[in-house]
Amino acid sequence: EKNTIQLRNGPRMPLIGLGTYKIQGNEVILETLKTALESGYRSIDTAAVYRNECDIGTSLKLVLPQLDLTREDIFITSKLAPKDQGQGKCREACLKSLSNLQTDYLDLYLIHWPGVQGIKPDDPRNCQLRLQSWQDLEHLHKEGKIRAIGVSNFEERHLHELLCHCEVKPDVLQIEHHPHLVQSQLLRFCTENSIHFQAYSSLGTSSENNQLLRDAEVVRIADYLGKSPAQVLLRWAIQQGIGVLPKSTNQEHIKENIDIFGFCINDKDMEALNNLSRGSHYCWDPHHIT
Ligand code: A2P
Repeated sequence: EKNTIQLRNGPRMPLIGLGTYKIQGNEVILETLKTALESGYRSIDTAAVYRNECDIGTSLKLVLPQLDLTREDIFITSKLAPKDQGQGKCREACLKSLSNLQTDYLDLYLIHWPGVQGIKPDDPRNCQLRLQSWQDLEHLHKEGKIRAIGVSNFEERHLHELLCHCEVKPDVLQIEHHPHLVQSQLLRFCTENSIHFQAYSSLGTSSENNQLLRDAEVVRIADYLGKSPAQVLLRWAIQQGIGVLPKSTNQEHIKENIDIFGFCINDKDMEALNNLSRGSHYCWDPHHIT
């Protein structure tokens, strides 16, 4: 079974990557990356706002040779902070991420958010600034410093605006997506426009009492398949060609989360999972989008 997908502008991207939001600290990052790479992960997702790029860069320098791997064997994603949107600022921020991560190129770089820090959501300057950021990304892409370019947390209207103005089309949309928040319309738009749809918060992270991992239907399907609820949630996504970025610092979880290529959820249960959708955002407040 294929566990990578071809992006339009760039390299192949693994369908599963290690999320690193809130993973902090030298030692923790070193151990987490080591376990992940040993378990077969080849993709790592970070962002300037996660404030862990330096530790990830240092850890990779140490761990890759230990595991007989090189920079080319892995796929690194980072993202532009909302405070750095705009012409020149975006370029500078991206170059800073490159130096923090101690690498000459990124495999994928995303505009983290449609809005700009410090500007009200309905202010037209947001649009200007994100289109300027995109032009910076197009240049960096042409220079080979970022192999693929994309966006995160964009809604359909933001994607539409971008597609109307860009020269290089976006490779990826990264957004919250799981059975409690099935974004069918947005997913269809991405498919139609050859934008790879990548999910974050597949496990429903910050939900109170982990409502998603404990959902009776998810647990029922997990029991039936002899898998864990986390594996069912991740499988549900990749079986539709949707990329996932589960994050964990727990060795067993890290291994379990990538062990999702050797089983199948049947059509009826895929449908049952789709029907759980209830518009629950567990990671961010959609009203803050602009
Ligand atoms: P831990 O680090 O203890 O594994 P998301 O990717 O949706 O943001 O979810 C991340 C959260 O889910 C983390 O709190 C992580 O905690 C937990 N988690 C990750 N993998 C699993 C798993 N296989 N089973 C249960 N919880 C998990």
